[in-house]
Amino acid sequence: MTRVIEQRKRDHLNLAQNEALNFSISAGFNRWRFIHNALPEINLSDIDTRCTFLGKELKFPLLISSMSGGVQESYHFNARLASAAEAVGCALGLGSIRAALENEEARDSFLVAREQAPTAVILANLGIAQILTAHSMDRVARFCEDLSANALIIHLNPLQEAFQPEGDTKFAGGLAAIQKWVQEFPLPIIVKEVGQGLSLAVISRLQGVGVEIIDIAGAGGSNWISIEGARLSEDQSVLKKTAQEFANWGEPTAEILENLSTNQFVIASGGLKRPLDLPKALGLGANMGGIAGILLKQALKDDADKLSEALLVWKKTLEMTMFGAGVRTIDELIGNRQLLQKID
Ligand SMILES: Cc1cc2nc3c(=O)[nH]c(=O)nc-3n(C[C@H](O)[C@H](O)[C@H](O)COP(=O)(O)O)c2cc1C
Repeated sequence: MTRVIEQRKRDHLNLAQNEALNFSISAGFNRWRFIHNALPEINLSDIDTRCTFLGKELKFPLLISSMSGGVQESYHFNARLASAAEAVGCALGLGSIRAALENEEARDSFLVAREQAPTAVILANLGIAQILTAHSMDRVARFCEDLSANALIIHLNPLQEAFQPEGDTKFAGGLAAIQKWVQEFPLPIIVKEVGQGLSLAVISRLQGVGVEIIDIAGAGGSNWISIEGARLSEDQSVLKKTAQEFANWGEPTAEILENLSTNQFVIASGGLKRPLDLPKALGLGANMGGIAGILLKQALKDDADKLSEALLVWKKTLEMTMFGAGVRTIDELIGNRQLLQKID
């Protein structure tokens, strides 16, 4: 089983780099633009992009969304992402810790993140399928403690699992399991999708069981149905062809934000491709943005300095947007629809 998980993680790192496997629909941020404010009545030096997340201060509201861990390649990958997160002051999500729970040798590729980012907000991650079936809460809590993780993300990925011949497709009882973990797990629980998105109805059901932080992880960027479809061989042609029918299945991130009204802490990930998508997500109501696929190639090959530079472009774009739109703080930007105009 461990070998199967490792090979799958390797396939994912390779295939997720292929932009042809992304959604062909966009997350919807391109349908919005900021209205230029030529009289901002603030000084550029007054702009403050800091925010608070899980009780800690970030230099700007960005999460490097969960990607990897558990295979040899992910040791340096997570080390680079972690030192970049520490340097620029954003948060870091790790890939599913399932591999480390099942194989001692896989632990280091996660633990290296805390070594490289001693003060950053680091989020551990595990699939709902594992929570429902295999792993005891104590075991997960112990590994989160070793990581000094600040929260645990539970990811929901029913269709991704369904398009894996070896996938875990037992999702019955998911909401009750989340409720139990929210009540009993020692760290805050965050719930996310992996790219098909959390619909308004699902977000409201999560709120009903006490989930205070959600990550939409919507459609528009990395597409796990298409990636799983590409992993299937020709002798699995029925499943492979069926995956093509689902190539644009999901909730576009900006559309969810546009219609969402909640007092939960909302992370918007899924299809944030350009740095300007971050302030747009905040203007539409998110508390924080998240990016994964767009960083993948760089995190696999470049050094942490180059990654930090890329992340600083996201931060600088946020700063310039705030100046150009005339808002001084992140709180003044979040949910301030008057700053935005819909293009279509
Ligand atoms: C290579 C790769 C591996 C991923 N692995 C995980 C994972 O282990 N757990 C998880 O919750 N999401 C995982 N994701 C999903 C991302 O966290 C994110 O929700 C999704 O890719 C949408 O964001 P994007 O469009 O910016 O890529 C992975 C994404 C990529 C690109």
